[in-house]
Amino acid sequence: MRIVSEPAEIPSPGVRPRGLVPTMGYLHEGHLELIRRGAAENAEVVVSIFVNPLQFGPGEDYQTYPRDLERDVRLAEEAGAAWVFHPTPAAMYPPGFATTVHVGGPLTERWEGERRPGHFDGVATVVSKLFNLVRPDRAYFGEKDYQQLQVVRRFTADLNLGVEIVPVPIVREPDGLARSSRNVYLTPAERPKATVLYRALLAVREAARSGATPEQAQSAGERVLAGVPEFEPEYLAVVHPDTLEPILDWVPGARAIVAGRFPTVRLIDNMEVWHR
Ligand code: PAF
Repeated sequence: MRIVSEPAEIPSPGVRPRGLVPTMGYLHEGHLELIRRGAAENAEVVVSIFVNPLQFGPGEDYQTYPRDLERDVRLAEEAGAAWVFHPTPAAMYPPGFATTVHVGGPLTERWEGERRPGHFDGVATVVSKLFNLVRPDRAYFGEKDYQQLQVVRRFTADLNLGVEIVPVPIVREPDGLARSSRNVYLTPAERPKATVLYRALLAVREAARSGATPEQAQSAGERVLAGVPEFEPEYLAVVHPDTLEPILDWVPGARAIVAGRFPTVRLIDNMEVWHR
């Protein structure tokens, strides 16, 4: 399996379409689903593995973010990747680097954007660079980072990057916890309690199906969150699926989004709670 580390060594696509799965590594079943999908739909699929310093804020886990390149490369190959792009931070951000991509407007002002200042600029900058370097026809993103998915769609359209953004549904553990590289931070005591996000989202969806308004459905979810005192909720909201603005009336594809902290880790999750 070929590992490309230098941007200058990236092979130009001999065959099209080329798919790209951008990741920060420590691959899990959610990533593998993206790679399998990309392999099935393209002549070749490329996996980028890069823990992007630009999208971590001060005090976040950039230094300790889990890394295991050898395992990642094996898993990527088994899932159908043609090659892996694994640049160094210096190759992506050489001395003098001074340009960032900023997505403005309400989409980035709320939720993750509000709690992680600069995060989406970091994501938009690195994903734009990856698109320009790898030149994919399609790129695959998990719905787990739902706001990120909408931000990527926004700048890809705004900057005419010409890449089709393919969303892939969340992959969950058997008990409902959404797969995430950061789940390894959960202690054995916290792990079973971490299903509280999923259970809260199910409660929102159940309330919606039983005739509740979005506000009432949100309250049903918040009651579930309150049942786990170790979990400190940051937000639970029922939002429009494209703008992520809170809604007062149901719209097709309405989404519930949730975030909060256990002592060892911050978790996010989301679910479509109103049919399209
Ligand atoms: O979702 C992620 O893992 C990262 O935000 C991404 C898209 C690979 C950009 O660094």
